[in-house]
Amino acid sequence: MKDFKDRINHIKTEFDASLEQVKNKEALQDIRNLYLSRKKGKITLLFNDLAGLEGKQKPEAGKLINALKTHVLKSLDEKSTEAGTKREKPAPVDLTLPGHKTWWGAPHPVLIFKQEIENIFTSMGFSIADGPEIETDYYNFEALNFPPHHPARDDWDTLYLDKGDLLLRTHTSPVQIRVMEKQKPPIRIVIPGRVYRKETSDPTHLPMFYQIEGLVVDKDITFSHLKGTLEVFLRRLFNENLEIRFRPSFFPFTEPSAEVDMNCTVCKRQDPDCRVCGGSGWIEILGAGMVDPQVLKNVSINPEEYSGFAFGMGIDRTAMFAYRIPDMRLFYENDLRFIRQFSKK
Ligand code: PHE
Repeated sequence: MKDFKDRINHIKTEFDASLEQVKNKEALQDIRNLYLSRKKGKITLLFNDLAGLEGKQKPEAGKLINALKTHVLKSLDEKSTEAGTKREKPAPVDLTLPGHKTWWGAPHPVLIFKQEIENIFTSMGFSIADGPEIETDYYNFEALNFPPHHPARDDWDTLYLDKGDLLLRTHTSPVQIRVMEKQKPPIRIVIPGRVYRKETSDPTHLPMFYQIEGLVVDKDITFSHLKGTLEVFLRRLFNENLEIRFRPSFFPFTEPSAEVDMNCTVCKRQDPDCRVCGGSGWIEILGAGMVDPQVLKNVSINPEEYSGFAFGMGIDRTAMFAYRIPDMRLFYENDLRFIRQFSKK
């Protein structure tokens, strides 16, 4: 009987010690099996061995085993709630901590403005075309009727590339040629895109900026079509009462050529000392004209049969007037506080 009691005590100590080590549910289940499994559990075996004891020792030993079994079951239960609680209780939430900020991007103001312009033109029946930013001398100048060494080339401070006769286009006009080479009239397109000039940045100049070019070629296109188109366009872009005026000018690829001015949006023609219009009340906004017959010949369109008009406008510069931004460089400083202001959301 003493042996039996020792065995029971030994099993209890051993059980208590291993339960102490248990870290997870799996280990707990292993211990449960080790002691209680129906065939080979250490406690089950104890019950089996009762049969070998003498008559009156049986009930005493039975009590001890039952006590051990109760102890084991209770301890396993406690441990299992403890392990369960540890694993399943969610981490406490501290509602006083600042949340995670989601940073939203915003469309760039020049892009927003470009889309506004495109929308007006597409609603007037224009399509959108584009062309390469790296151009050849032929498309940027020669086909546009700038002969080699012609002084008009000096109006554009051109950035030339090392290789071949490549350059960064100084205006979007070369795309006029590219489109007319491929497409026969009627043509009614606008061409937005980046252009490059060797300029030092200042409030009104940038070495890279956006232009939008317009080109219409068809039978019987006249200067009044040009005037009407630009008037409708600028009034829709700015306001219904905008006044515009045409001044004679020169571009090798248009004849006659004009520069287009509109009312100063900043002083509304009221301030003789206005820094934007210099007090004249007018700001220059576009270059335009009737497509020079020589340009049409260069792309094998018969100038006797067809005529056209073209215009070019700086998008960044015009956005400056529309949004009343005093310095064009702000567009490219990537200051989010500036850029986000233009989002409609
Ligand atoms: N390409 C000219 C410029 O950059 C603008 C222009 C375009 C003028 C089309 C006439 C016709 O200044």
